[in-house]
Amino acid sequence: MDLETSNDALRDRPRRLRAHPMVRRLVRETTLARDDLILPLFTVPGSGVKDEVSSMPGVFRESADELAESCRAAADLGLPAVILFGIPATKDAEGSAAWAAGGVVQRALASIAAAVPELLRIVDLCFCEYTDHGHCGVVDEQGEVLNDPTLANLARQAVSLADAGAQVIAPSGMMDGMVAAIRTGLDASGHEDVPILAYAAKYASAFYGPFRDAADSTPAFGDRRGYQQDPANSDEALREVELDLDQGADMVMVKPAMPCLDIIRRVKDTFHVPLGAYQVSGEYAMLKAAAARGWLDEERVMEESLLAIKRAGADFILTYFAREMAARLG
Ligand code: PBG
Repeated sequence: MDLETSNDALRDRPRRLRAHPMVRRLVRETTLARDDLILPLFTVPGSGVKDEVSSMPGVFRESADELAESCRAAADLGLPAVILFGIPATKDAEGSAAWAAGGVVQRALASIAAAVPELLRIVDLCFCEYTDHGHCGVVDEQGEVLNDPTLANLARQAVSLADAGAQVIAPSGMMDGMVAAIRTGLDASGHEDVPILAYAAKYASAFYGPFRDAADSTPAFGDRRGYQQDPANSDEALREVELDLDQGADMVMVKPAMPCLDIIRRVKDTFHVPLGAYQVSGEYAMLKAAAARGWLDEERVMEESLLAIKRAGADFILTYFAREMAARLG
């Protein structure tokens, strides 16, 4: 063949690396593993309770006994960790049920530790599930969330949960100074080895809608824009991450995930610390809903979405698909 006459543009043929499935496997840049996945679980008081959340098919509100069984199944699928959210029997203005010794998450921790000791127990730390007004801290007469009085309560909640067997504390309330307050509280109570996974860059997102059904945490008035970040901002996320790291966060998180792939990448490129991303309730619900109508292939969009989050720079992903993805990984 006359090389002089061949088209220069076709000297490079990227398709050569796509033609054979084994070559595709060799050149794959990103892979998902079970070790990357954290399963969020919701726990309620009582026993024998397992109610499906209507806007999140496959996600349940479970009492401690049922939860222990779900955790056993998760560990059997090879998942390394769960993150727990509690819905208490009673709520008040401060959210005091959050630090009650026999509180709903405290009891769930004991039951999981006994049944599945090898599974890592992460707890979400926030007040919106515990306050009667549904905000993430104490509020004044105008309904404004008060930052500094909330910090002492967060430290109290963290210590109570660590005492009850929480192995990682994940504060999600977006209060200023929360990581330092929690670190101080944990250190002063003998929990200096309990790491903090800070929801450092958490946006005021409409994608949390189904979670608020699951956790009964919709604010009774107003919204969370006074403390969660404006989705229009990106530099602000780096500032938030920097502050949380300065205050002693061991790992940081970006949330939500699919609308924030650019933020995940910037955080990963800027700070060289373990980075999580939360594929939140609304991301899960929209994929599930479309799949239920036959509009999307559920397995494939699940895998593609998680791969994209990993490719963007996340080291691990909190996802309601954790079980299904672990099963698919075989
Ligand atoms: C706050 C918290 C929320 C989520 C995780 N932690 C809700 C909120 O900020 O309104 C949302 C998670 C999801 O949507 O899956 N405790």
